[in-house]
Amino acid sequence: GDVAVLVPAAGQGVRLGPGGPKALRSLRGEPLLVHAVRRLAAAPSVGCVVVAAPPGSTSDVRDLLSSISDRVDLLVVEGGASRQMSVAAALAAVPDRYDVVLVHDAARALAPPELVERVAAAVRQGHAAVIPVLPVVDTIKQVQSSGEVMATLDRSVLRAVQTPQGFLRSTLVEAHAAAVDDHTDDAGMAEKIGVRVWTVPGAESALKITRPFDLAVAELLLD
Ligand code: CTP
Ligand code: MG
Repeated sequence: GDVAVLVPAAGQGVRLGPGGPKALRSLRGEPLLVHAVRRLAAAPSVGCVVVAAPPGSTSDVRDLLSSISDRVDLLVVEGGASRQMSVAAALAAVPDRYDVVLVHDAARALAPPELVERVAAAVRQGHAAVIPVLPVVDTIKQVQSSGEVMATLDRSVLRAVQTPQGFLRSTLVEAHAAAVDDHTDDAGMAEKIGVRVWTVPGAESALKITRPFDLAVAELLLD
């Protein structure tokens, strides 16, 4: 495979509640991170996975992931204080030969290999930045801190954004070098430097496991 995937996995998982770093929390007996990396390694495009691990757990994480694939190079670095810092640490460790780099949240542990392939294919077709998106199903309103509604947004032009997000390596490097404030999304950093971002269809199974309800849904999806 010609694609390297960065996996930010160093978050605390505050919204999931007590129980340690989210990426190491169990889903049907295996850490979320193991589920995520197994699916990435099953995508034929992927040649390298770089995990940004929770501080102090890099060697444990290396052991957890060592048996997943003989085909894919696995690197583990220590993550940072923000998602953006974790991505930057992983990006710095990508071997020179990879020109396409994807960024995938460990929290989207069930993102299917087909989604990885779809994003990688769009980058190879010439899009410097690619994000998987889904239509928004709820009506979305802009609300003041007082609780009063200010506006109803036009849902037809809105999309919910997932990972993996895909980039030409040079584009992602430039976006990170230019970033001043903290971003939750790498494509947002590319937008800031004027890169045109392309969308491909997302996957419902790539839901982000954020709250206990999401973990319960993910348990059911594994049936
Ligand atoms: N992440 C990271 N380093 C950080 C913070 C987040 O690598 N300092 C990663 C998380 O591990 C996760 C992804 O970024 O895979 C998306 O973040 P999120 O879902 O917000 O996870 P957490 O930050 O762990 O959760 P919370 O915000 O509830 O604490
Ligand atoms: Mg977070």
